Amino acid sequence: MAIRLKTKLPGPQSIRLMAERQKQVARGPFHSAPIFIERAKCALIEDVDGNQLIDFASGIGVNNVGHASAEVVAAIQNQAGKFLHAGFNVTPYEIYIRLCEKLNEAFPGNPSFERKSFLANSGAEAVENAIKIARAFTKRQSVICFDHAFHGRTYMAMTLTSKYKPYKYGFAPFNPEVYRAQFPYCYRWQNTSDPEKVSEECFSSFEDLLSSQLSPTQIAAVIIEPVLGEGGFIPAPPQFLAKLREFCTTHGIVLIADEIQSGFGRTGTLFASEQLKFTPDLLITAKGLGGGMPISAVTGRADIMDAPIEGGIGGTFGGNPVCCAAALAVFEKFQKEETLAHVKKLALQLSARLAQWKERYPLIGDVRGLGLMQGLEFVKSRSTKQAYPEAAKALTKYAYEHGVIIMTAGTYSNVVRFLMPLVTELDLLEEGLNVLESGLKSLK
Ligand SMILES: Cc1ncc(COP(=O)(O)O)c(C=O)c1O
Repeated sequence: MAIRLKTKLPGPQSIRLMAERQKQVARGPFHSAPIFIERAKCALIEDVDGNQLIDFASGIGVNNVGHASAEVVAAIQNQAGKFLHAGFNVTPYEIYIRLCEKLNEAFPGNPSFERKSFLANSGAEAVENAIKIARAFTKRQSVICFDHAFHGRTYMAMTLTSKYKPYKYGFAPFNPEVYRAQFPYCYRWQNTSDPEKVSEECFSSFEDLLSSQLSPTQIAAVIIEPVLGEGGFIPAPPQFLAKLREFCTTHGIVLIADEIQSGFGRTGTLFASEQLKFTPDLLITAKGLGGGMPISAVTGRADIMDAPIEGGIGGTFGGNPVCCAAALAVFEKFQKEETLAHVKKLALQLSARLAQWKERYPLIGDVRGLGLMQGLEFVKSRSTKQAYPEAAKALTKYAYEHGVIIMTAGTYSNVVRFLMPLVTELDLLEEGLNVLESGLKSLK
């Protein structure tokens, strides 16, 4: 047994620190599990009370190669011994180029166009830069995003984000020239869940938006998560993505894939776009890229990436050398076949178990996702599909109290998402799922 509970959770030290946190730290940041972490390795977290928990959250899909991966730690230590920061805008360094090279090579679909990359610090910052690059290239202003999207918390990224509370509440006004289209959310589509039909109807509503509210000639970019993350782990049907691709090509619009959450092996391939047969013009990555270090990237068509003038994009810390070293170690991990082969094994085990749960527990309305990016959507009744956020919240609480860290998601906060490290051992996955199944049994 990997779960080791020495105290009731949260334990006394965590409770003490939480009281201090309330006093010293702004209210805004939310905690899925109010347990203070002391150390972590692979898929296990030890808290300040000496309890050991299984991590099914990976710090929101970041620790894909596991907590404190030996190779990532060694790469960080090696680089830290040379220099910590130089500022790529001041004196460039080779490791930045090497990482861009890897990102360019790994671009989904391996299209014939030349690729270039730009490095930043966080997902939101990469989103901002992708929009700046698309606007500079097209010399147009409008941007189309989707229902249920989450792109980050800076002003443009937040404007592109769909869910109002908590992400946008109290923060208006938002950026101009952003339009929102329907996302092909098959489970909640009006009259059908068939991906083919949903794609057709959804795309036709996309075209309606363009004819009624703006012209394609005004649109700089369309930005989409091939698998919605915070929106509830909803893969876009490949048919829909294909239509979008064709539309953007026809109208000279930059098509941006936000794979910040779905990237770096999370879905069973390096990027979800590969299995969805989707080739964007620009790809945004972050989270898993740095193996726990803050780094993000925009990668894509060289002619688009070169649109901003010299000095037009940059930043003090973007592409920090220690973070680049960590990211290169992450890439090395994915070059080993066993990494993605293990994800496939875990994903099979997870999918089989979730499918069983759907049979057994009527509160689960939908089970969906790709690879190790899977979610359970809770409903009060399968016929009305009325969202049941209290169930997702109660399961999350039950889970951490019994040694498993999970998170919720979804516009209606009624999805429980699985984001375990991709290196989780199979029996650890089973142990964590057993806890969750006991939790499911306790739900009313
Ligand atoms: C799809 C997606 N885009 C953008 C972001 C924002 O990334 P960051 O929190 O690093 O700014 C996130 C974070 O959850 C995300 O899931």
